[in-house]
Amino acid sequence: MKSYSIALIPGDGIGRDVIAAAWSVLEAAAKHAGFALTATEFPWSCKFYKETGRMMPEDGIETLRGFDAILLGAIGWPAEVPDSVSLHGLLLPIRKAFVQYANIRPHRLLPGVTGPLRAESFDILCIRENTEGEYSGAGGRVHQGTQDEVAVETSIFTRAGVERILRFGFEQARARRGKLASVTKSNAQKYSMVFWDEITRKLAPEHPDVTVTSYHVDALAARMIMAPDSLDVVVASNLFGDILTDIGAAIQGGLGYAASANINPDRSAPSMFEPVHGSAPDIAHLGIANPIATIWSGAMMLEHLGEKDAAGRIMKAVEATTGRGIGTIAGKDKTDAITAAVVAALS
Ligand code: NAD
Ligand code: IPM
Ligand code: MN
Repeated sequence: MKSYSIALIPGDGIGRDVIAAAWSVLEAAAKHAGFALTATEFPWSCKFYKETGRMMPEDGIETLRGFDAILLGAIGWPAEVPDSVSLHGLLLPIRKAFVQYANIRPHRLLPGVTGPLRAESFDILCIRENTEGEYSGAGGRVHQGTQDEVAVETSIFTRAGVERILRFGFEQARARRGKLASVTKSNAQKYSMVFWDEITRKLAPEHPDVTVTSYHVDALAARMIMAPDSLDVVVASNLFGDILTDIGAAIQGGLGYAASANINPDRSAPSMFEPVHGSAPDIAHLGIANPIATIWSGAMMLEHLGEKDAAGRIMKAVEATTGRGIGTIAGKDKTDAITAAVVAALS
């Protein structure tokens, strides 16, 4: 029997609930499809940090390298550990170390879910650059605490980094409706963003079957709300992609539905799958976190592993569940009830 080894990192807050939920759906789907999934759970989190002084052990990255994929819940417990410590100690280093340069985030309405917009027929795939740009981590602070203090944080855009994410975007657009929106702010940022626009224009002739349009990020943000059905694939830098995908989550009904895949397209290291949302301290321990974003991310993981039928079955089961009005209103159905409905719909 085919078998896949999965590293589970539930993390903090509702991360624990949604990973347990997604794992039970994944196990049920694997059983139906006739392959095996084995889980190795890592307790890396803010609690782990409080106990050990690290978000993950020194050899954490090497430990993860041997797995077929990573499924992560959410990291962050700002009341006890600063986000700048927790995210830079676990989530962000994994994305970088495993060259998961393409962060894929689908935004569409599931049946039965009412978003805040009148438009219902949108289906947007955001591709977010995931290893450099505004998240490069280059910078520093000098004269700390004095009136002369200076804080510098430099975005780094490399030709290799921009070309590979744009190529990835073109390929995704080619496989879908053939439209690519390339997002910058080149009217204000005249080096990095002009560079991105130039590379967009340079790569366009290599993809004659894709219509590419460059947008400024402010205009694109408005377009996602005013005319989401005019968009197909959106490709953006790390920070712009982060912000736009919370808009994407909002128009698809909320963060509880927004899935994400951190892909290493070369398969030289494991890819990581996680919901877009965080640890939601405001609802942690209430048992009402919506697990659908993480279940959907789990389906993306199976698709990446080559188990397309099982991935499709999970999405059909999720759609059947929300189609029956389960998991469609925030806080109405418990995490466990939504999960049980999805598992039942699998059979
Ligand atoms: P958040 O995504 O945790 O929560 C924002 C709002 O959405 C909250 O009101 C929350 O209750 C709601 N929400 C989120 N997920 C939900 C779900 N599955 N079901 C129902 N409601 C849901 O964002 P935040 O409050 O800005 O961040 C909290 C912590 O999470 C911080 O430490 C932050 O840095 C971290 N964070 C981590 C990740 C990640 O690990 N990938 C992503 C975003 C934020
Ligand atoms: C996301 C999150 C992270 C990001 C944070 C927690 C560092 O917001 O995955 O969208 O900005 O990438
Ligand atoms: Mn985000």
